[in-house]
Amino acid sequence: MSQRVFITGGASGLGRAIALRYAREGARVCIGDINPEQGANVEKEINDLGGTGYSVNCDVRRLTDLEKICKELEQKWGGVDLVVNNAGVASAGTIEDSTLTDWEWVLDINLLGVVRGCKAFTPLFKKQQAGAFVNVASMAGLMLAPLMSSYNVSKAGVIALSETLHQELRDFGIHTSCVCPAFFQTNLVASMRSDIAGIQQNVGKMMKRSNVTADKVADDIYRAVEEGNFWVLPHAKERRMWLVKRHAPQVFDWLMHQESKRWMKKMGGRA
Ligand SMILES: NC(=O)c1ccc[n+]([C@@H]2O[C@H](COP(=O)([O-])OP(=O)(O)OC[C@H]3O[C@@H](n4cnc5c(N)ncnc54)[C@H](O)[C@@H]3O)[C@@H](O)[C@H]2O)c1
Repeated sequence: MSQRVFITGGASGLGRAIALRYAREGARVCIGDINPEQGANVEKEINDLGGTGYSVNCDVRRLTDLEKICKELEQKWGGVDLVVNNAGVASAGTIEDSTLTDWEWVLDINLLGVVRGCKAFTPLFKKQQAGAFVNVASMAGLMLAPLMSSYNVSKAGVIALSETLHQELRDFGIHTSCVCPAFFQTNLVASMRSDIAGIQQNVGKMMKRSNVTADKVADDIYRAVEEGNFWVLPHAKERRMWLVKRHAPQVFDWLMHQESKRWMKKMGGRA
């Protein structure tokens, strides 16, 4: 039986790479996105690779969209095996200059979008006594760099939600994975809201320089789900830093301070 996969934000970047990774395995892949033109292109790519693609309009800011898709997929496929809560946007700014409108926007999509995805599909997973959630957080939620408070909080929230559901749902046969990549190249900067001049270009350059690709992150996700792993930490250097944070917090604080000074200078924050 081919796997049945639903991915939010599947029309671009990581969501697309995950869709194509599962398509290569012959999976049935539904992508939900607010960008229907790009969604249709990815649907075709999925079909070309041997999967069965299906693109739907989905705004993760609306619980009703996710509930409707869940019902539709249950009717169409007889169930769903994997939900990837991936849709996300970026934000940056100092605490005093970031507006509450931008805080609400980023939390609504990045954090509540994942909450809604989990809420909408959990009843089906419980009925099936099987299913897996992959929640896309970020290294930004584990290593909290300055000038990124709203994005960091949204991603730390996704990590907290995922750790909670990992315990709450595992005895119902429901697996949870939490993905925490550092920078890799996608179209994420296009959505970035910030009043720091030039930050999109600077972040764009860092993404371009990354030796980790969206395909590698998608591969790590595929393997984690197969092996039943919770954490997906695709970047080796940041993975080591996270271990330092857990095992030697004072050393981590010193290293983070040095890194933060460089980061603020580069990003143009008023340090
Ligand atoms: N690229 C990176 O460096 C990086 C690093 C860590 C985590 N992430 C996370 O990876 C995830 C995917 O982002 P990406 O880097 O592929 O960016 P991307 O911009 O290429 O893709 C994001 C997709 O989400 C969709 N989307 C945005 N708002 C939506 C909404 N309200 N409802 C449904 N779809 C919506 C967009 O249309 C787009 O197709 C995000 O959660 C992001 O925070 C990215």
